[in-house]
Amino acid sequence: MELLDGKYLARQIKEEIAEEVAALLSKGGKVPHLAAILVGDNPASQVYVRNKVKSCEQVGFHSTLIRRPSDVSQAELLHIIQELNHDPGIDGFIVQLPLPDHLDEETLTLAIDPAKDVDGFHPVNMGRMALGMPCYLPATPCGIIETLRRYGIATAGKEVVVVGRSNIVGTPISILLSRKGPVGDATVTLCHSRTANLAEHTLRADIIVASVGSPNTITADMVKPGAVVIDVGINRIDDPTAARGYRLVGDVDFPNVSPKCSFITPVPGGVGQMTVVSLLMNTLSASKKTIYG
Ligand code: GUN
Repeated sequence: MELLDGKYLARQIKEEIAEEVAALLSKGGKVPHLAAILVGDNPASQVYVRNKVKSCEQVGFHSTLIRRPSDVSQAELLHIIQELNHDPGIDGFIVQLPLPDHLDEETLTLAIDPAKDVDGFHPVNMGRMALGMPCYLPATPCGIIETLRRYGIATAGKEVVVVGRSNIVGTPISILLSRKGPVGDATVTLCHSRTANLAEHTLRADIIVASVGSPNTITADMVKPGAVVIDVGINRIDDPTAARGYRLVGDVDFPNVSPKCSFITPVPGGVGQMTVVSLLMNTLSASKKTIYG
C-alpha cells in the first residue's frame, strides 16, 4: 500500500505556482488576488478559509477575507458579490459554504460572474465542465484528478465507483472521470443514499471515491484487493485524548481498508490539501485570463 500524499503534492504545486507568480511579476504582470466571503462562525469553515488565505500568502498571491455575521442579509451578500464582480483588482472570489439556512445559496452562486467563479460552482462553469470546455474546475474534483495524474494512476477502462452525489464533489468527479482524456475514460458508477446494495458496487471498483461525509462508510469488506481509494471525507469525531478534544477522520475505515489498497489518501493530509491548491491554480488562471479572456 502506498499513501497518496496530498501534503507533499500540495507543497510541490505551491512551489510551481510561486515560481510562476515570480515569473509573471518579472515580466511586469500583476499579483493574483483572491477574495473569500465567510459568513458566521462555523468552526470547519473558519479553518478552511484560514488555510486558503495562508496558502495565498505562501505562493505570493494577495488575498482579501470578507467576514460577515451569521445574520447577514441576502441583499448585503448580493451587494458584496456585485462589488467583487466589478472590482478589477480582484481576479477571483469564493463564498465559503455551507451558508446559514436563511440565505439562498443558489441565488448567490448565480450572482457570481463566471469569469471570477474560481470555485467552479456557477452553472456556466459546471456546464462547461460537463461539455469538456475550458472552465474553472471545482476544487476538490480538480485536486483528485491532479493527484491521480501526478501518481500516474491509470483511469482509462477502469471501474470507478463514486459514493456521494453532491454538487461540489460526487457529481462533478463522476463526470470528469468518465470524459475522454488523460485522467478520464473510466467506466463510472455514481452511488448515493438510495443505492440498493453499495458493497455490490464498491467491490467491483478499481478506484473508489468516497464523498459522503460520514465516518466508516467504506469498510474493508467493501473493497477489492489492490483498489485505489480516494477519501474525500473530513469528519470530526470526539477524542478525549486529542488536545482539541476531537480528531479528523475520512469516510473510509482507514486502519482496516488501507492494507488492502494499492493506493489510498490519508485524512488529514490527502484530498483536503489538494483542494486548496486547486483553488490557487484557478485563481492563477483567472489572473492570466486564460479561460474567459
Ligand atoms: N465548503 C466545502 N468545500 C468547499 C469549497 O470547495 N468551496 C467553498 N466555497 N465552500 C466549500
